[in-house]
Amino acid sequence: MDVLIVEGGRRLVGRVRVEGAKNAALPACVASLLTDESILVHRVPQLRDVSTILFTLGALGKRVVRNGGSVVISEDGPLTAEASPYSVRKMRASFLVLGPLVGRLGRAVVPLPGGCSIGARPVDLHLQGLRALGAHVEESAAAVTVSADRLRGARVEFSFPSVGATEQLLMTGTLAAGVTEIVNAAVEPEVLDLIELLRAMGAEIEVEGRTIRVTEAKLHGTEHTLIPDRIEAGTLLLAGVATRGAVTAVDVRPDHLEPFLAALRGMGVEITVAGGDVTASAPGGTRGIDIKTAPHPGFPTDLHPQTAAALCGAVGTSRVIETVFEGRFTYVEGMRAMGAQMAIDGRTATITGVSALRGAAVEAPDIRAGAALVLGALAAQGSSVLSGLDQIERGYEGLADKLGSLGAQIERREA
Ligand code: UD1
Repeated sequence: MDVLIVEGGRRLVGRVRVEGAKNAALPACVASLLTDESILVHRVPQLRDVSTILFTLGALGKRVVRNGGSVVISEDGPLTAEASPYSVRKMRASFLVLGPLVGRLGRAVVPLPGGCSIGARPVDLHLQGLRALGAHVEESAAAVTVSADRLRGARVEFSFPSVGATEQLLMTGTLAAGVTEIVNAAVEPEVLDLIELLRAMGAEIEVEGRTIRVTEAKLHGTEHTLIPDRIEAGTLLLAGVATRGAVTAVDVRPDHLEPFLAALRGMGVEITVAGGDVTASAPGGTRGIDIKTAPHPGFPTDLHPQTAAALCGAVGTSRVIETVFEGRFTYVEGMRAMGAQMAIDGRTATITGVSALRGAAVEAPDIRAGAALVLGALAAQGSSVLSGLDQIERGYEGLADKLGSLGAQIERREA
């Protein structure tokens, strides 16, 4: 297994292009199940998670053709109603195929995704939504079997604005008779991007605050370009901030980044926005702040670990409160090995800035914690060895090359 060798302590400066959003790509690919016509998706990142969803769709009977950043998903034979346990266990987003399959085939069997390193991540809200549409849901220890002769639109109120459950119900709602109303829906940019795609496929969808109304429609094929990845953009900007440099994320959506950019400004980082380019510059270092993650438009939980890593070198004390995933603190052990001062109490990390981190051998526990450790290694004095790259590569395309182009001394080597 390869490792990353990072020689830290260099300022990162320059411009870097951001890929299409992973978390928009996954539901966009699943939406292909809603029609027997072809959909063509552009700016699809070349990531393990995307390969996993395409594999899942292929195993269900879809035909997938990938050409660089473009993917065509079409159908030239019958679909099967049973999803592969391999892909759902590997990646939770595969669970999204459930509702679309039931809507198309009247029945679906999908393995339960189970917990993962960032938290328990149950699927009760997904199932609540499908039951409300009239589906019969049977859960066993390993899988969920859902059937419905005819799905019927209904009003579903979520106790929490879950991204996945909102996407599940949005897609399923297009195949349910009448109107499906989702109350307390997630409105993350990736959810709104899925809505754009569904509208381009012929869906009728209204969004009013956190209420989304979907009216049944016959969907057809289309072409769609994904939004840029705000989490990758944020991570690359933080690489500049953590190393007292200045990085420009090119061709992004500054409006999608706003809750995060507000936190950077609070840290004393200078932010410049020019069209779709965002520059974060911190030549004089940063100061500590308090952050609380929350569903969009709050501070994104997917940028918590990386921001916490940057705060390890800020002057003063910071607090990061996590309200979305209880298990987000998987980066702490690795950052402590680099000399970070962090205390965890329940869902709060208290970080006392240190004048310098030092290189260490660490392992990426999950995608975003792995990215946080890369940032720690870039800021640290001396060399670090990062293992667990398969986790980082689930979410970042060509990260080492991109950081290298900004001046990092980073190399991928066989362990
Ligand atoms: C998506 C993102 C993930 C991001 C998260 C929150 C994808 C592929 N992944 O994950 O990167 O961190 O949104 O922005 O888009 N919950 C329940 N019951 C459910 C569903 C969720 O209790 O049925 C809880 C989860 O355990 C978690 C919270 O709700 O505590 C948020 O989860 P959710 O918004 O569903 O995240 P995902 O869609 O899994």
